[in-house]
Amino acid sequence: MNITIIGTGYVGLVTGTCFAEMGNTVTCVDIDQEKIDKLNKGIIPIYEPGLEELVRSNEGTSRLSFTTSLPEAMKCSNLFLIAVGTPESPNGEANMEYVYNVAKEIGIYLDRKSVIVNKSTVPIGTADKVGTIIKNELEMRGEDIPFHVVSNPEFLKEGDAIQDFMRPDRIIIGTDSDYALDMLKQLYSPFTMNYDRLITMGVKEAELTKYAANAMLATKISFINEIAHICDELDIDVESVRKGIGADSRIGYSFIYPGVGYGGSCFPKDVKAIIHTAKKAAVEPLVLEAVENRNQRQKERMFDHIISKYGSDLTGKVFAIWGLAFKPGTDDMREAPSVNLITSIIESGGKVQVFDPVANEEAVKKFPQEWISDNKLVLLDDNYAALENSDALVLMTEWKMFRNPTTCPPAGMKCRHGPA
Ligand SMILES: NC(=O)c1ccc[n+]([C@@H]2O[C@H](COP(=O)([O-])OP(=O)(O)OC[C@H]3O[C@@H](n4cnc5c(N)ncnc54)[C@H](O)[C@@H]3O)[C@@H](O)[C@H]2O)c1
Repeated sequence: MNITIIGTGYVGLVTGTCFAEMGNTVTCVDIDQEKIDKLNKGIIPIYEPGLEELVRSNEGTSRLSFTTSLPEAMKCSNLFLIAVGTPESPNGEANMEYVYNVAKEIGIYLDRKSVIVNKSTVPIGTADKVGTIIKNELEMRGEDIPFHVVSNPEFLKEGDAIQDFMRPDRIIIGTDSDYALDMLKQLYSPFTMNYDRLITMGVKEAELTKYAANAMLATKISFINEIAHICDELDIDVESVRKGIGADSRIGYSFIYPGVGYGGSCFPKDVKAIIHTAKKAAVEPLVLEAVENRNQRQKERMFDHIISKYGSDLTGKVFAIWGLAFKPGTDDMREAPSVNLITSIIESGGKVQVFDPVANEEAVKKFPQEWISDNKLVLLDDNYAALENSDALVLMTEWKMFRNPTTCPPAGMKCRHGPA
């Protein structure tokens, strides 16, 4: 099949690469010239395990190409997947400008019967709106080209994205068109060979399924974080409690590790967006608001621990931080709890020495440059170097390499309070 992917970020690049791996001819489009230039030179703009090898091998066969020109990419395709960002608006609603801009462009250049697939996470009613935008553009050109808009939300996880895409738990297709459904069945057939993972439903049901899935996972995280807070106050070991509840198959062990709060490009914005959707439908989102409030509170807890020990003036104090990314396996720092913590420490007069195996480059873009030039924020390429002369170590991302650290710092390294 000839496929055009519009938006070459985490989702678009992984999706396009995995479809190319299955023999399709894929063109990935992005408006970010620098990103496309890098990809055309074989440089992968994001960290995702296994992605680099897969991109290189498919680019080499010319099944996978990258461009900034949508009209060029549309010339030999009748299947368009929209994978642009849907970030948070100031009122919590999903910002749909990128999706709608793409819809307009598709309408301008569409020249044959096609299927347009929303892979981005989008609010209910978006497929209809995308359809209207395309139709308006066609009418302005005096054209009457048939097309179908499908909802096919993506469920991959950063850090396991290739594995998730290649072996999905389910593939959700929301459409009322047999033509579109047949095309998507063919597209996904290589991924459903051992058993059928395709779940078909209405377009709006598919749009809501994605938000409901993320909200459910976020709920589990906020729930266990609240239990952990209770445990802290009562001097109870939450690990025992976690094991005790996870053994119940109705609860299960996944997503009940207590931590520093969820971050990333999905859960925070998607929980806020579904809260917004509920309110628009005159539903009071009692559970969802509690999930969101607990997460905000959770992101402050590490700093609360610090000031309860060191006081609110951190002048002269040095904090080693292990981990910047919002979770292991990615360099993504969007909404990462480490950003809140580092900001709070530096604004309270402290200094931070940070190590992350892949996200240091992202951190340079996230924080004020003067924090780096004034040595308030020191980014290091060794986790033990971050400990040097530090008053405390804060573990922010559970990278595997932090699970069993050596208890003595390497020779020659001085920690103010001895071994880590
Ligand atoms: N990141 C994830 O783990 C994940 C998982 C499932 C679903 N999603 C959803 O998928 C969507 C994309 O997420 P992402 O993390 O890949 O975003 P991203 O920010 O990494 O990538 C989006 C890309 O779209 C490009 N873009 C914007 N406007 C464009 C246009 N008019 N034409 C072409 N390209 C354009 C941007 O330059 C950017 O490269 C979001 O709705 C997100 O919620 C993300």
